[in-house]
Amino acid sequence: MSKPVSNPQQTGANQQWGGRFAEGPSAIMQAINASVAFDAKMWRQDIRGSLAHAAMLSHVGIISAEDEAAIRQGLDAIAAQIEAGAFEWSEALEDVHMNIEARLTERIGEAGKRLHTARSRNDQVATDFRLWVRDAMDGLAAQQLEVIRILARRAEEHADTIMPGYTHLQPAQPTTFGHHLLAYAEMLWRDRGRMLDARARLNECPLGAAAMCGTGFPIDRQMTAAALGFDQPARNSLDAVGSRDFALEFLAACAICATHLSRLAEEIVIWTNPAFGFVSLPDNLTTGSSIMPQKRNPDAAELVRGKTGRVTGALVGLLTVVKGLAMTYAKDLQEDKEGVFDAAETLTLCLAASAAMLRDLRPNAERMAAAAGAGFSTATDLADWLVRELRMPFRDAHHVTGRLVARAEALGLDLAGLSLAEMQAVEPRIHEGIFGVLTASASVASRRSHGGTAPENVRAMAREWRERIRCGE
Ligand code: ARG
Repeated sequence: MSKPVSNPQQTGANQQWGGRFAEGPSAIMQAINASVAFDAKMWRQDIRGSLAHAAMLSHVGIISAEDEAAIRQGLDAIAAQIEAGAFEWSEALEDVHMNIEARLTERIGEAGKRLHTARSRNDQVATDFRLWVRDAMDGLAAQQLEVIRILARRAEEHADTIMPGYTHLQPAQPTTFGHHLLAYAEMLWRDRGRMLDARARLNECPLGAAAMCGTGFPIDRQMTAAALGFDQPARNSLDAVGSRDFALEFLAACAICATHLSRLAEEIVIWTNPAFGFVSLPDNLTTGSSIMPQKRNPDAAELVRGKTGRVTGALVGLLTVVKGLAMTYAKDLQEDKEGVFDAAETLTLCLAASAAMLRDLRPNAERMAAAAGAGFSTATDLADWLVRELRMPFRDAHHVTGRLVARAEALGLDLAGLSLAEMQAVEPRIHEGIFGVLTASASVASRRSHGGTAPENVRAMAREWRERIRCGE
């Protein structure tokens, strides 16, 4: 008499892999093992991957065309059900992959059970996750471009708006608000470049690596790779299922971008402080205080700054997960997703909030100009004048200027307020011409060197940005 085949349904063992198991997982095993609560987010990618896999299996004759048609209809129906919020996810089925596969088999029977031929959840999850991250990269890169577009537009508007430039957050040299904004355009442009570079390396298809060593079935990996929009199949099956550096690169690109937005947010916090008063935000981008009626808080900026911690945390978290893993797949890798999902969602929000603030912030040109002239900010211009007009070596000019600043400070004046006689007491060769370089507007207008702060440079650069953005689309 042949031994009866044990039925996992009767023993309570997992329907998808429970053949050798006499009993199902304990509650704690199920709780620590299940990922469906978060990986259900990849259902679209999972169905897309399964459709491509089934089409390929049928194309090479591993499953019949009828089975493939049944799988396709079944998966389409499941997709509609999930979309409508009518799909019941089961923790007992662990993850998105087994939930969908089990439901497919429930719907279409035998054909559903053939879908997993020449495939493992290891290559399946690696494929789904790459597809998800790739979509996130595309969305974020588009948002980055939108922020750059706003920066360029506002920079053009404020090419002549003089503001103080800082080093050490101390008055250094006058600059313009436009030039300042274009500095962020450069940073965001590189952020977008990092996203797109990472995308290019990500875009290889793990599907067909199966559990880790490939398969004996005559699959066509070029076909599935092309169907899923990948440039090529991943070359090494072990690497395909065991590596997550595509996610690490994504997180690094997110963390650097979030860090740039955080710096901008910090500046908005500073600029909106009434002691500075450089910029104001509209009511709809600020909040009030429940106790202090006068308050207007830049919470959106503070949160962009604060949320950066989560994004950086996700990068450090995944680096830590991966660092000790022997090749190839280990369940630790299931921990790759939540951080990535959270980082992507957080950065999406931060980019949107930054775009809104940049679009609607109102610079106060008078306040900025007044501050730009203060703090002896044209001292470098004075030193440069001594070099140009008196052929003084720069080190000596620096020293003479330092003495003039000290003199002005002692008299409670700014540099332009010093009389010619006072100046000549320090350096007798100084003449009237010096007063032409001591204003903030003369200072910025003079800085026409490549990449410098002069309004005409900023206007030309803003125009270049418009062109670059058009080509980037
Ligand atoms: N839920 C799993 C993950 O996200 C899918 C892969 C499971 N593979 C396995 N051999 N148990 O990583």
